Amino acid sequence: MGGRRSAPEASFRVGSVSGLVALGRAMGEALAAVAGLREKLILGFDGELGAGKTTLIGGTLHALGLEAPVTSPTYGLVHPYAVRPPGWEVTMEILHIDLYRLQQLSELDELGLPEELPGSPAGPGGVLLVEWFANARGRLGKPDLAILLGHANPGRTVRVREYSSSGSEIARRLGIVSHPDVVARI
Ligand SMILES: Nc1ncnc2c1ncn2[C@@H]1O[C@H](COP(=O)(O)OP(=O)(O)O)[C@@H](O)[C@H]1O
Ligand SMILES: [Mg+2]
Repeated sequence: MGGRRSAPEASFRVGSVSGLVALGRAMGEALAAVAGLREKLILGFDGELGAGKTTLIGGTLHALGLEAPVTSPTYGLVHPYAVRPPGWEVTMEILHIDLYRLQQLSELDELGLPEELPGSPAGPGGVLLVEWFANARGRLGKPDLAILLGHANPGRTVRVREYSSSGSEIARRLGIVSHPDVVARI
């Protein structure tokens, strides 16, 4: 793990919603492979409104076995899910969090999120998928993988930065996604 400037980074140009969903699905498959029952993983998503954060998370959750449509939490900041990823005999706990409406950092404490942080001895493992992660201003620590989405002409750009070995493995799997509208760039 390095500092912010030295964290390895990869980027993609994504030309369609279906391409973004394919990246999200790969992210979900990677999570099912690397997530443990004790370890907690955080994926932090940033990028302006409409950049594709929720679309990407939708692909992720659907690859993990969720069948319902995915929308951002609108009442409160959190959607909790218990999914059964393919090949898992137990459920994976996932929190889909959207910090767009976060007004004070103390709201994070009220949500009990610090207990959900990686390395916490309390509670089972799980995955936090956090939109507008930067709004937490470090209160959630570093994510395992930071995902920065942006508008491009045409399509979207997706940049990922890895901050842990689990994050690296997820990024590696994103790099081998084969979809006509997903182009990896150095
Ligand atoms: N190439 C693309 N990739 C992702 N989304 C796209 C693309 N082109 C158009 N869109 C549209 O952009 C919007 C992304 O919305 P959403 O995922 O909710 O963004 P966010 O959660 O970042 O606000 C969707 O309406 C989607 O249909
Ligand atoms: Mg969203």
